[in-house]
Amino acid sequence: MQAAEKLGIFIPHYCYHPALSTAGSCRLCLVEVEGAPKEAIACATPVSEGMVVYTESEKVKRAREIILEFLLLNHPLDCPVCDKAGECLLQDYSFEYGTAHSRFKEPKRIPPFKDLSPGIKLATTRCILCTRCVRFMSEIAGDPQLTVINRGARNEIAVVPGNTGLDHPLAGNVVDICPVGALLDKNFIHRTRVWHLSKAPSVCGECSAGCNISIDSYRNTVFRIIPRTNKDVNDHWICDTGRHSYKKYKKLERIMTPKIKEGSVLSDTSWDEAIEAAAEGFKEFQKMKDAVAGVIFPGATNEDAFAVMEFLRTAANSNAITGIFQKPTGEDRVFKSGFVIKGDTLPNQEGLKFIFGTAERDAESILSRIDSGEIKAAYCVHNDLSNIPERTLDILKKLKFFVVEDIVMSPAAQIADVVFPGLMYYEKNGTFVNYNRRLQLLQQAVNGPKGAKNTWEIVKLMAATFERQSHFAGWCSAGDVFLKMAKQYPELEGLSHFKLSILGKPLYEKREVEEVST
Ligand code: SF4
Ligand code: SF4
Ligand code: FES
Repeated sequence: MQAAEKLGIFIPHYCYHPALSTAGSCRLCLVEVEGAPKEAIACATPVSEGMVVYTESEKVKRAREIILEFLLLNHPLDCPVCDKAGECLLQDYSFEYGTAHSRFKEPKRIPPFKDLSPGIKLATTRCILCTRCVRFMSEIAGDPQLTVINRGARNEIAVVPGNTGLDHPLAGNVVDICPVGALLDKNFIHRTRVWHLSKAPSVCGECSAGCNISIDSYRNTVFRIIPRTNKDVNDHWICDTGRHSYKKYKKLERIMTPKIKEGSVLSDTSWDEAIEAAAEGFKEFQKMKDAVAGVIFPGATNEDAFAVMEFLRTAANSNAITGIFQKPTGEDRVFKSGFVIKGDTLPNQEGLKFIFGTAERDAESILSRIDSGEIKAAYCVHNDLSNIPERTLDILKKLKFFVVEDIVMSPAAQIADVVFPGLMYYEKNGTFVNYNRRLQLLQQAVNGPKGAKNTWEIVKLMAATFERQSHFAGWCSAGDVFLKMAKQYPELEGLSHFKLSILGKPLYEKREVEEVST
């Protein structure tokens, strides 16, 4: 199978999965080997010197037809109501390689659907017993919670007797690897058809592992998040926290319009007035070097942080910018296959440290300068749901003027003089650097609230009131911000959003090479 794949020859298969052991159970991958008495399964036949294999001979085509006829004996053929329709390999291969009729006239077996967990349903009638799900739980998750029960034609997938249900943090992956519509994510059942979905190849922002994901949406609503294969990051998998993250973002009460503090109350205002108020506030301290700080929470992209830095440098006479770094909130969880869920739930701490050269001690220094009154104003980007440490908040309260860009009225937004509605990571383009110093591209999946803007857009508007618009004139997208950033950091030299592609680039290799050569 792998040899054929390498040569670009496709052999249809169900039970074979590149990350799992070979089961050889579905028999769809039968090929003809010259000199062999009968067809062999490609997934379990090693190549040998001089071997001649036919993948499209009449014998092979007939074998596939027969296997598909067998697999459909008890299958309900309920594609019109099946959520897998449109991306189902049984549907696709039956169409491509099967026959349009069955000789089976007997009644079909109809075992009932069952819940494997609160989030996963098994449509038992659709299962082709490829055992991918069973092997995933044992070989990748390292927790064999699924098994095959009963004998012969009554074989069924079930939770291992004695277990209460499928409750593993990686369990959702079984839905993705099920080649048919047997395993279903209950959040997705009968919600939309897969061919309606727009797919944004992006990166999970729920921990610093930076798993590659596809954010699938329809009419500006995220319907599901599924993994994208990246051998260097998450292989074929994601955890259930990342998979279901869209549900928590859906429930948020988002900031819809900018706000200005009037007396002690924050009131809605227009963008023009909010920009004017923010710029006026910063202008008061413009003459004092480094009196205005940038305070960036690590849910922000590198482009967000760079945009604020450029604003401070060119308009506010300051180089005082820092990330608010936080210690991991839990232990890393490493599973049997090596897949890791990081204890650090902030997606871009490494980006802020590595690209901007800010580390914990710089954060401390800037916070203490705010505390002592040396820094008098700040622009804060907090476009995520991360906790703001109590001590940081107490220090930020001492600022004479505080502008916060946020997605919800967080404790930081509540103490601000001006609040801008920001965008979270599904809603924008940009880059994160994961814990392993891999620079990866986020791609916008949905639009944020109508009144929200990107950090670079806000910065550009503020800069115009300082008559610094020419410096930001070329910024029409996060990609433009990246290009400017790439000119200033040797690690990013020659890179662009386009060149990063959907798999990202390791920054650490580049830096190590440079360190050796200098
Ligand atoms: S439920 Fe899906 S993955 Fe599991 S054995 Fe059946 S067809 Fe294969
Ligand atoms: S391991 Fe981390 S990055 Fe990967 S899907 Fe889970 S939360 Fe997201
Ligand atoms: S893919 Fe080879 S037997 Fe299933």
